[in-house]
Amino acid sequence: MNALIKLEMIKNEFEQELAECRDSGRVEEIRVKYLGRKGELTLVLRSLSELTPEEKKEAGKLANVYKNEFTEKIHNIKTKMEETSDEAEQGIDITLPGIKPALGTRHPLTQTLSRINEIFISLGFSIAEGPEIDSEFYNFEALNIPLDHPSRDAFDTFYVDDEYLLRSHTSNVQIHLMQGQAPPVQAIMPGRVYRPDAVDATHSFMFHQVEGLMVDKDVNFSDLKGVLSIFCRSMFGDDIKMRLRPHFFPFTEPSAEVDISCIMCKGKGCRVCSGNGWLEILGAGMVNPKVFKSVGYDTEKYTGFAFGMGVERIAMLVHGIDDIRLFYENDIRFLNQFK
Ligand code: DAH
Repeated sequence: MNALIKLEMIKNEFEQELAECRDSGRVEEIRVKYLGRKGELTLVLRSLSELTPEEKKEAGKLANVYKNEFTEKIHNIKTKMEETSDEAEQGIDITLPGIKPALGTRHPLTQTLSRINEIFISLGFSIAEGPEIDSEFYNFEALNIPLDHPSRDAFDTFYVDDEYLLRSHTSNVQIHLMQGQAPPVQAIMPGRVYRPDAVDATHSFMFHQVEGLMVDKDVNFSDLKGVLSIFCRSMFGDDIKMRLRPHFFPFTEPSAEVDISCIMCKGKGCRVCSGNGWLEILGAGMVNPKVFKSVGYDTEKYTGFAFGMGVERIAMLVHGIDDIRLFYENDIRFLNQFK
């Protein structure tokens, strides 16, 4: 093909492509296509030597004119794109909807804990926290848990040295709280606790508890029952029944285990409640005077109640979750169900 015609075609094509070009990435592509090392115009310039002197003179001149022209046009359009404040010319369509950042969801345990907090706050409780690594005094002695109690065995608890351990319950916070203030006390104490349990569908070496404590003059067992029944109904529904079974805890006397009517079968008996219609949800009782003595409270003047519940257990019941491990695996498919 005649070199002049070829140059004319290249020029037309170049101009058309440049006119249709909307973003700087494309400008660069065009530059490479025509002016790059193997660019169309570059190749013509390189092959000039194959032409007759006559052709060479004319085509060479034109090719150089075009080379300068292309370079200048590319330069101009690039500068214009950089300078322009009109996003559309930079290839950004400002009419498109923005990209919505993917928002996470609150963990089901956090949601359950927030609900528990909310209910107790509405009843006048405040929220307190205490250390997860604590001494035997706070985790055991002050709570009237004797030295020969199985939970004090090194194999039943995570000791970090001879005296300190990962707390096995949130009851330790009761002691810190009472040491720090005179009655009245009315608080709940949420937090992580640790037990060297083998992990299975219902056990974990770490889980969450919420402790409760109310101390004042004339606090009695009916106050405990009233507070817990309001809690159960707010948490599980108005049609839920609650019962207290006598039990033993060293730090309360008398003590009880608290059951609710099964939220799955409403008390008829099903797999979740092992057929008996009731679900155990927490432990409670009147604070043992020995506990008051260990923090220097006047046992003649004050009485109180305490309770402790597992957050995982409550979340599992509320949401019908049958494996505790799901809480800790961070599986997005599980977590996304709790919007
Ligand atoms: N600390 C007990 C546990 O971990 C739970 C508990 C029971 C706490 C009765 C209390 C209570 O305050 O009164 O199993």
